[in-house]
Amino acid sequence: MQRLEGKRAIVTGAANGIGRAIALRLASEGARVAIADVNEEDAQEVAGEIDGETLVHKTDVTRDGDVEALVGRAVSEWGGLDVMVNNAGVGVAGTAVTTTEEEYERVMDVCVRGTFLGMKHAIPAIKDAGGGSVINMSSVAALVGLVDRAVYSAAKGAIYSMTRASAIDHVGEGVRVNCIAPGTVDTPWVARITSGYDDPEEARANMRARQPHGRLVTPEEIAAMAAYLASDESASVIGACMVVDGGVTAR
Ligand SMILES: NC(=O)c1ccc[n+]([C@@H]2O[C@H](COP(=O)([O-])OP(=O)(O)OC[C@H]3O[C@@H](n4cnc5c(N)ncnc54)[C@H](O)[C@@H]3O)[C@@H](O)[C@H]2O)c1
Repeated sequence: MQRLEGKRAIVTGAANGIGRAIALRLASEGARVAIADVNEEDAQEVAGEIDGETLVHKTDVTRDGDVEALVGRAVSEWGGLDVMVNNAGVGVAGTAVTTTEEEYERVMDVCVRGTFLGMKHAIPAIKDAGGGSVINMSSVAALVGLVDRAVYSAAKGAIYSMTRASAIDHVGEGVRVNCIAPGTVDTPWVARITSGYDDPEEARANMRARQPHGRLVTPEEIAAMAAYLASDESASVIGACMVVDGGVTAR
């Protein structure tokens, strides 16, 4: 029997990058996976890569009605929900001085409101199913000071704090809430950030150098951690921030 057989999971931001890798990994371990993203075309492509039961649901995680409908659909089609991965997020490079208010609102909205709404709708459904796992996507930016990431760090710090508080709120209902703090992961997001610098290749080299193990983390390495947190093997892991960062926070 596969580790996640029988589990019904939602992954937000699953059309690309880390979310895509998580959706593929959960499915490869036997879970049914709902691929939720604003980008429906790429989400369909991910579904096409999965040799198992999937749902594709166009979802903007900043919209309460979208997230409610997403959870409602998974519950009505599959009879319940066991795992919610609140992965969707956007980043911005900048200091508190250079970041615009519009960038602030966008990052906080997708990262913090999106995670909040994901928990708001998924936790009751997971509780009704007899318990399960919520996995939020934080970052090492929540744990150490990174150059040029002021608002992104604030958003990821909020996710970490909300994870710990929610873990305590819902532990009695059998709902485990944890987060993952990746280092720099090689995804389309990183390509977008580096393309904004005068010398993208230098920016990429700086990102690699920031990682003590000398390379970017792979999306699959984050997905392996998500699969562990989704599984019953992590039954005593509650309110934790699982660092997968190549040693960044060890310094
Ligand atoms: N890449 C990294 O280095 C890194 C490091 C730490 C944490 N993270 C976090 O991991 C998560 C995934 O990052 P990634 O690098 O894979 O990004 P990505 O940009 O490659 O993929 C993000 C996905 O989220 C979707 N998305 C964006 N806004 C959305 C919204 N409002 N509703 C639904 N979907 C939305 C996008 O369409 C895209 O498919 C984010 O929360 C990010 O902050 C990334």
